[in-house]
Amino acid sequence: MTPQPPPASPLAVETHALVKVFGTTRAVDGIDLRVPAGTVYGVLGPNGAGKTTAVKMLATLLRPDGGEARVFGRDVVRDADAVRGRVSLTGQYASVDEDLTGTENLVLLGRLLGHSRAAARDRSAQLLEAFGLSGAAGRQVKHYSGGMRRRIDIAASILNTPDLLFLDEPTTGLDPRSRNQVWDIVRAVVAQGTTVLLTTQYLDEADQLASRIAVIDRGRVIAEGTKGELKASVGSGAVHVRLREPGQRERAARVLTGTLGATVQLDPDPVALTATVDGHRTELGAAEQAARALSELARAGVTVDNFALGQPSLDEVFLALTGKEGPV
Ligand SMILES: Nc1ncnc2c1ncn2[C@@H]1O[C@H](COP(=O)(O)OP(=O)(O)O)[C@@H](O)[C@H]1O
Ligand SMILES: [Mg+2]
Repeated sequence: MTPQPPPASPLAVETHALVKVFGTTRAVDGIDLRVPAGTVYGVLGPNGAGKTTAVKMLATLLRPDGGEARVFGRDVVRDADAVRGRVSLTGQYASVDEDLTGTENLVLLGRLLGHSRAAARDRSAQLLEAFGLSGAAGRQVKHYSGGMRRRIDIAASILNTPDLLFLDEPTTGLDPRSRNQVWDIVRAVVAQGTTVLLTTQYLDEADQLASRIAVIDRGRVIAEGTKGELKASVGSGAVHVRLREPGQRERAARVLTGTLGATVQLDPDPVALTATVDGHRTELGAAEQAARALSELARAGVTVDNFALGQPSLDEVFLALTGKEGPV
């Protein structure tokens, strides 16, 4: 019987009990990940959580000490060459030379990847333009700002469009404007069909970019899901109420405190108030508690113009999951 090829996998990354040990540190301590192809997947965790170690194993730069990992169905150890042909890791495979200009770097890397001189020039100009670096194309990279440097790193890593791009903390240390530019680039890259695995310490970054998020802490996945699932698993939210009459706000606050047992916050707007909902307080979920609060307000004769139940922020999710403040 001829050996069957591995089944076509809709997963860009699949790991089972992946482990990496450095001395006595279990940097990655049994991680299971399933990254759907064609999406941005966020790996969120504080410094030292094991993000870079996990990414390096997936990119075949580090050998796992236990468990297994597949990239597009190919084992990262047994089939490392096949994996390498489909992935790129910003700042690792594509190292930018500080003494060369933006153009020189990209043309050189393009030539190393086997492009003709003309093709390398074309691709380089196209990427510099797309990343807002045309004006700096002739300048040495050592004179680039932090944001420009991060952008040329990403440009270098997608000279050949990879099927899976690892972005390891692509915006750490950047100012808000540069972060936004990098976010736009990530969105453009994924729109071209590349799967992006992004690690970050920033909750808002995962929230902005990723479809699914794994929260990791001390080498372990402590939560995984869509943004909505993650927030829902914490089971709390915030009720935002707008009243018709500012004069009814005191009464509304008393009703909300009574039904939700929650802290009520009077917003600067005289007709608005916010109450937190703890989904674990009773057997009722946050939505049911909010619905009950709304009917109690009506019973008390309070006229409500607008009523919304919002989900908690990712900061609150991290706090609830780890019992400690998030890294931001
Ligand atoms: N080459 C190494 N040698 C020894 N310890 C390491 C090495 N690389 C990482 N570590 C340790 O492994 C843990 C996870 O590190 P890392 O994967 O870099 O985390 P993150 O990228 O989430 O900040 C940390 O405790 C770190 O000190
Ligand atoms: Mg790291």
